[in-house]
Amino acid sequence: MSNQLSVRHLLGIKDLQKEDIELIFSTATNFKDVLNRPIKKVPSLRDITIANLFFENSTRTKLSFELAEKRLSADVINFSASGSSVSKGETLIDTVNNILAMKVDMVVMRHSKPGSAIFLSKHVHANIINAGDGTHEHPTQALLDAFSIREKIGNVEGKKVVIVGDILHSRVALSNILCLQKLGAEVMVCGPVALIPRYISEIGVQVEYNLRKALEWCDVANMLRIQMERQDIKYFPSLREYVMLYGVNKVLLESLKKEILILHPGPINRGVEITSDVADSSQSIILNQVENGVAIRMAVLFLLAQTR
Ligand code: CP
Repeated sequence: MSNQLSVRHLLGIKDLQKEDIELIFSTATNFKDVLNRPIKKVPSLRDITIANLFFENSTRTKLSFELAEKRLSADVINFSASGSSVSKGETLIDTVNNILAMKVDMVVMRHSKPGSAIFLSKHVHANIINAGDGTHEHPTQALLDAFSIREKIGNVEGKKVVIVGDILHSRVALSNILCLQKLGAEVMVCGPVALIPRYISEIGVQVEYNLRKALEWCDVANMLRIQMERQDIKYFPSLREYVMLYGVNKVLLESLKKEILILHPGPINRGVEITSDVADSSQSIILNQVENGVAIRMAVLFLLAQTR
């Protein structure tokens, strides 16, 4: 296995080879060992300065990247659109070039516009890491999800994974589909008709509108929230009906003839796509995903820094 990534930016899972994903996983496994030591820090990125640019809200991804960078001994600067000069009309490129003029080596960016990370990578010299670009991709989320599945149930190859909910607006769904397929998993999506993109079966994804049938089929269910902030029209009659048809609860899970693994990228809407007794159950690996996110992001940052 090569010890170098085939890319110098992480813009999406689409650009990664299976070997890149395996390299990220083996590097993350080593960093996870570091994170379990009393001294959780290594000097690997001591000479690197990283800017975290968050033009859209985040809790997990923002904190996880910042912690990963600090565990690697990088110098870190943080930028949030609120309170910045973006409100005075400064463009994305001008904002980023001003930050890069301060001798920044790597940029982690979350933005509401699909393609914004790709756009940035064509205009600046720093390594760009996409921390979520609108409805397009969220590559580190997919990597940490697949890594967490592998950790719990072994090889992802041949496993059946269903992604449930708002597939249409979800960057997590697209990145998960691409990542799981590259690793040899079978992928299904399940949700209301209007929230399933029409192209989805053309990329080898099965579609099931009945949640019980989807759960009976799968080994793993990744539950997504309804992205109200990205919905300009009503895609389903009411939240109450959505909960009845697509919410996972303990009674439903216990009526299946097997135990499936439950993932959720967060933030959770308790009582909507998932009930508390499921989210907090032993079948749920939601907090393992968050824990693994730091090791995965350390691996991505470390490996991209080697391409400089
Ligand atoms: N999973 C995820 O991207 O969460 P945040 O929006 O809190 O970063």
